[in-house]
Amino acid sequence: MLSYRHAYHAGNHADVLKHLTLVALLRHFNAKESPYCFLDSHSGKAYYNLGDAMAQKNLEYRNGVDRLWLNKWDDPILHSYCELVRKANPQQPPQLRHYLGSPAIARELCREQDKLVLMELHSKEFELLKQNFKGESRAHLHHRDGFEGLVGMVPPTPRRGLALIDPAYEVKTDYDAVVSSVQKMYRKWQTGVVAIWFPLLAKARDRSEWLKKQIANAGFENVLLVELSVAEQNPDQGMHGSGMIVINTPWQLDTTLEKSLKLASDKLEISCKQPLAITWLTKT
Ligand SMILES: C[S@@+](CC[C@H](N)C(=O)[O-])C[C@H]1O[C@@H](n2cnc3c(N)ncnc32)[C@H](O)[C@@H]1O
Repeated sequence: MLSYRHAYHAGNHADVLKHLTLVALLRHFNAKESPYCFLDSHSGKAYYNLGDAMAQKNLEYRNGVDRLWLNKWDDPILHSYCELVRKANPQQPPQLRHYLGSPAIARELCREQDKLVLMELHSKEFELLKQNFKGESRAHLHHRDGFEGLVGMVPPTPRRGLALIDPAYEVKTDYDAVVSSVQKMYRKWQTGVVAIWFPLLAKARDRSEWLKKQIANAGFENVLLVELSVAEQNPDQGMHGSGMIVINTPWQLDTTLEKSLKLASDKLEISCKQPLAITWLTKT
């Protein structure tokens, strides 16, 4: 049974990392007129009310989007991300109530000629996703396992595209599923850009090193690793940070993201020595 609900975590530091990376990637795709496909294997319901009981339980967004959204950024990625959040929260005086998940960010940034393929397995989340995307002709929604869905639906049409893999890792097999589905997918779609999110957890539960090693040794090209931590690894703490792995990394994503994430992390409450790490797992 699936129990994870992203509403508890919407807008937290991990969403900031994931969604700034997503904005940077979509901006890269938008730089060319030719259409592309955005595939989201674990979509969630796409729109979050930060005033609801789930978001209010731990107030995770307070050390995340809340510290960024009202700033006027020169940085184009932060500017674009915060503009989307401000557009979703137009009331005056400003009040942060609404947050956009990955399908909603893609909906805003994708153009008329682009396509969105959104997968979600949780029945309730899927129902809400369907309601939220009613009438959106660019979006194709699938109530199914995202790992199988990705493998089954690539190469997409159009072939140019980006897949976001953002599991909850609530079941241990998610780590193996990420690796095997990406390997199978890559055999069918060598040119696809793939972005994988993963958590950085207390040592006893952390599998990030294993995941990075598997991806680094799988023969993929230009694999970028970006990690953002807000605290040191601690046995008593849940998630102290998170990471993104990007396969077939677009040119200059490393430098553009580094600038944006440095500016963003300067605004977050951080208690660790090295909040940001950007390295190549493979570089050709
Ligand atoms: C971390 S959340 C997704 C958040 C979303 N990508 C975003 O950035 O706004 C993970 C989602 O995956 C869903 N899920 C869990 N296992 C799944 C599976 N095998 N296939 C598809 N969706 C799954 C959960 O119900 C949850 O909504």
